[in-house]
Amino acid sequence: MTQSTQTEQFLQTLKDRRSRYAINDNLPVSREEVEDLVAEIVEHTPDAYNMKSARVVIVWGEKNQALWDAIYEAFDGKVDRSKIDGFAAGDGTILYFYDESIIEGMQEQFPSYAGNFPIWSQHANGMLQSNVWSALASLKVGASLQHYNPVIDNSVRELFGLPEEWKLVAQMPVGGIVEEPAPKDAEEVRGNRLIIRD
Ligand SMILES: Cc1cc2nc3c(=O)[nH]c(=O)nc-3n(C[C@H](O)[C@H](O)[C@H](O)COP(=O)(O)O)c2cc1C
Repeated sequence: MTQSTQTEQFLQTLKDRRSRYAINDNLPVSREEVEDLVAEIVEHTPDAYNMKSARVVIVWGEKNQALWDAIYEAFDGKVDRSKIDGFAAGDGTILYFYDESIIEGMQEQFPSYAGNFPIWSQHANGMLQSNVWSALASLKVGASLQHYNPVIDNSVRELFGLPEEWKLVAQMPVGGIVEEPAPKDAEEVRGNRLIIRD
């Protein structure tokens, strides 16, 4: 593959990543393929000082149903059931966490940067989410990014037996693509959100 082809494919993958809310439990690839891809991305996504603060939990099938039921219950009926059902209609959910004990360890080791480690951990988690989201799009797996934390934190921890120090950052429901979102309007980035000085 030539360099330009590789770059074009990379850019196309970024463009193919969209918020896909209409999903079903019919994944176009095996669950194992998704898990392997996520494992690779966890390994290769950067983190500050290489501190490896991100944690990921993937829940499938009945566990996914249990997750979205618990999310609905945690909000005491104050969230739209049909919206929750839409996420539960997928085959699974990728849960993103950071490990607070890693951050505390870094803060002790590098006190002058203490305030930065929580921020950098969030940056790294966002990079991880973005990488996974884009990679899923390249597999034609539909996904979106949800934030029902912190209301659901205790329910999620209890449901899946997770350590107290794993702090929930985001939820990514995944599934087969039922309907594509409308194309986005083109944006003039140069001169507005991108400034060049030379
Ligand atoms: C940090 C971040 C937080 C987001 N939180 C939510 C969310 O809680 N719920 C949701 O439906 N979409 C959420 N989104 C998705 C954005 O609304 C969406 O990516 C944006 O409107 C662009 O649309 P696209 O994903 O189809 O390109 C979030 C995206 C980012 C990057």
